[in-house]
Formats: sequence, C-alpha cells, structure tokens
Amino acid sequence: MTDLLYVDGGNPLRGEITVRGAKNFVSKAMVAALLGDGPSELRNVPVIRDVQVVTELLELHGVRVGFDAEAGTIRLDPRDVQTPMVAGVGTLAGASRIPILFCGPLLHRLGEAFIPDLGGCQIGDRPINYHLDILRQFGASVDKHPGGILLSAPRRLTGTKLSLPYPSVGATEQLLLTAVCAEGITELSNAAIEPEILDLINVLQKMGAIISVDTDRVIRIEGVERLSGYTHTALPDRIEAASWASAALATGGDVYVSGARQADMTTFLNTFRKVGGEFAIDDAGIRFYHPGGDLHSIQLETDVHPGFMTDWQQPLVVALTQARGLSIVHETVYENRFGFVDALLGMGATIQLYRECLGGHPCRFGQRNFYHSAVISGPTPLSAADIEVPDLRGGFSHLIAALTAKGQSSVRGISLIDRGYERFTEKLEALGAQFSRETSG
Ligand code: EPU
Repeated sequence: MTDLLYVDGGNPLRGEITVRGAKNFVSKAMVAALLGDGPSELRNVPVIRDVQVVTELLELHGVRVGFDAEAGTIRLDPRDVQTPMVAGVGTLAGASRIPILFCGPLLHRLGEAFIPDLGGCQIGDRPINYHLDILRQFGASVDKHPGGILLSAPRRLTGTKLSLPYPSVGATEQLLLTAVCAEGITELSNAAIEPEILDLINVLQKMGAIISVDTDRVIRIEGVERLSGYTHTALPDRIEAASWASAALATGGDVYVSGARQADMTTFLNTFRKVGGEFAIDDAGIRFYHPGGDLHSIQLETDVHPGFMTDWQQPLVVALTQARGLSIVHETVYENRFGFVDALLGMGATIQLYRECLGGHPCRFGQRNFYHSAVISGPTPLSAADIEVPDLRGGFSHLIAALTAKGQSSVRGISLIDRGYERFTEKLEALGAQFSRETSG
C-alpha cells in the first residue's frame, strides 16, 4: 500500500489537540486482562494500530473484546480463554512487539503459548534474550518454532530472584505479568520504572496482585492464586505530547496539548525550556510555544526513566536544527536510532553522526560500530523534499521537518505513523497545517 502525505510547510502550528492513553501502556494493560477471572474495562484508549493488533491476538485466544472508539473504552472478557490455531496466530507475525508479553498470562491460563515472530520499529537489534531468560527462570520451557516461539509450563510457574543486565521496559513488564500469579515471591533488581510500568502495576494491584516498588529499582511480587478483572483509566501518552511540543517549537508555533501531564514529563519540560521553548501548565493540559527569538543549542543524553526518553529524541532533533549553535545528542537506549537523520540532511540540516559516546557518560554502544551520537549545527532553514518514513517516531519527526520546511514535501509510508499517533491527520488539520493525504492500494 502506498500512502502519501503532501505537506505545504513553513507555517507555524497553532491550536489545540488532545492526547489520550499511552500506546506503551494501553497495549500491556490489555494483555493483563488475560490474567483476570472476570471482565476488565480500560478507559482513555486511543484508536491506533497497536490496539488493533493486540485486540486481534486476544480474540484469537478467545477473549471477547468490545471497543467503543469514540468513548475510548475497551471491555475485555477473558472467561473463555482457549488455545488458538498456530496458523491464526502466525498471521500476526511482524505486526508488533506486544505479543511477547502474552507469555506469562497464557502460561498461567493455558499452560502453553505460541508467540509469533515480533515486529516493531527497526531502531536496533531488539533481542528478546532477557524475556526468555526470565520465563525459563520461572520454570517455562521455550522452543524455537517456524514463525515464532512455543512455550510450555507443565506445572505452576515459581517465583524467582533475578537482576536485569539493563533496565529493560519490556523485560520488566514480562516479569510483572508472569510473577503476579507465580507461586511464591519474585524479586527483580535493576528494573525499569517508567510511568507506564508503574501504571501497569496499578492495574495489577486492582486485580489483586501484591507488588512493591523500592526506590533502588527493586520490585518485589508475592504471587497470588487468582486475579479478578479491573477498571482503569490509562495514563496519558507522554511521547505523543512531547512530539506535538517539538512540532510547535520547530515550526515556531503554539500548541495546547490537552491531556498532557506534567508529572510524567518533568525531564522533557526541563529540556524544552533549555532549548528556549516555553510552556504553561494547567490542570487539563500543557501549552507549548515558541516565544520568538533564537532557540539555544543543548547537550542531551537519552536514558531510562527518569532520564530523557529515547522516544522524545527524534522529534526534538528536528527542532534542534533550528537552534543557534552546536547541539550534541547521545542516544544510549537504542544503538540505531539516528536512521531518520538522512532525510533531514537531504532537507538542508547539518548533522554529523559519530560512533563515540559524545558529551555524556560512556554507554553500552561505545567502542562499537554504532553511530549513536549526533552533532547538530544550526539554525539551518529546511527545504521541501520527498521523504520515506523509516519508523514510528522517525516518521513523525519527518512530518515535523516537512511542516517546518518551506514548499511542498511528500512524505511516503505515512500509515506507519497511525501505529502510535491517534488520528494525527485530524490533529494536523486542527493545528492549521496545510496538507493532503493520498492513499492507494
Ligand atoms: N534489550 C535487550 N534484550 C532484551 C530486551 C531489551 O538487549 O531482551 C535491550 C534493547 O535492545 C534496548 C534496551 O534493552 O537496547 C531497552 O529496550 P526495552 O526492552 O526497554 O524496550 P522495549 O520494551 O522493547 C519499549 C517501548 C519503546 C521504548 C522503549 C524504551 C513498547 C511497546 N515499546 O520498548 O517504544 O522506546 O521501551 O522506553 O512499550 C515506541 O513507542 O516507538 C518505542 C520504540
């Protein structure tokens, strides 16, 4: 499928948009519903492709799913969970990374699980070794199968004590979704503590789980025999909110992001202010705007929470092309998250990539062949170009670049953006962007 957006850029984005629940929480909370012995209800759910993929996979396992897209309410009834045909599950191969989180809940409910090959953005190697090590430590057996992995647990999984080599978000979620119903106590050190994970813990606690989170990245879980359904309102999408904030800054605009929440965005807000952006916070959202004058160059390093999120990096880099001086950005979470820069160079940006860890602490990717540091020299006017979307966040960044550049750009492969940005073309319209969308089969 070709899908193209023709963007007439060079105009500030101005107006108001709303963000709903976080993509990287909602999909996991939907998986958690599998663990309940009754129905669950999740609110503030956005209409994005990832929700659809998880819905399809849950339905293949016998979960009844009802989604009121307008209200953003999803009902999940797992009382008739069943083992699906492997072929059916295989049709979802490559669609998302979420299926790997079905392992623990399915092992508890059915004693077995078939997980299709994963998809997701190509921003690094993205291995699943931590996930599989965790599952084996709980007592599951894991076998490679054509098109996916096959897991089984002949008896109830047993709690364990382990430490992650790196505070992986997905591996921490894997552990939580497995430990809550395992026999005995589980202790995880070096856990990820992103707000989306803490909200997943809120959900699991509502279901009957016993989980404590210490200040030193240690999570302890006392396994219970049964969990019930839950009712929960998802925390807002702080990645989407920051993406629109960066779009406001890059285009010299003024965007009120209804639903954005300060507590989840403290580190982003500090950086936004250092670059020269201004914001005003109220109970319902955050207004992000360019106050006029020069933006400032900065030094930035991405990190796990409470650091600067890797997913905030790409949109902000586009704004940094408009800042005066040399900015240094060190990406420490993914080894290959600067692929989107090529298109920016073609539009007139001055960005140099380095293999070294620049301007921060040495990371896992230093002394290896990964171009994971960037030096951005600005301000450089961007010119319109024909661009191909590489991945979700990189794609949104290209969109920001096209909105910033004078003249008409074409952005190809735009449906990738639908995976994580709800109704983004409607939001662009609300902000006064000039564009047209062409879709052909
Ligand atoms: N890692 C391993 N082995 C594993 C798991 C992870 O080496 O078994 C490494 C990864 O290769 C990476 C690092 O650990 O270098 C961190 O990966 P993590 O597991 O934290 O990432 P994830 O769970 O796969 C989620 C989000 C990403 C977000 C990261 C970091 C979802 C569905 N995805 O990925 O979001 O960037 O956490 O916050 O929750 C996005 O939304 O566009 C996106 C990529």
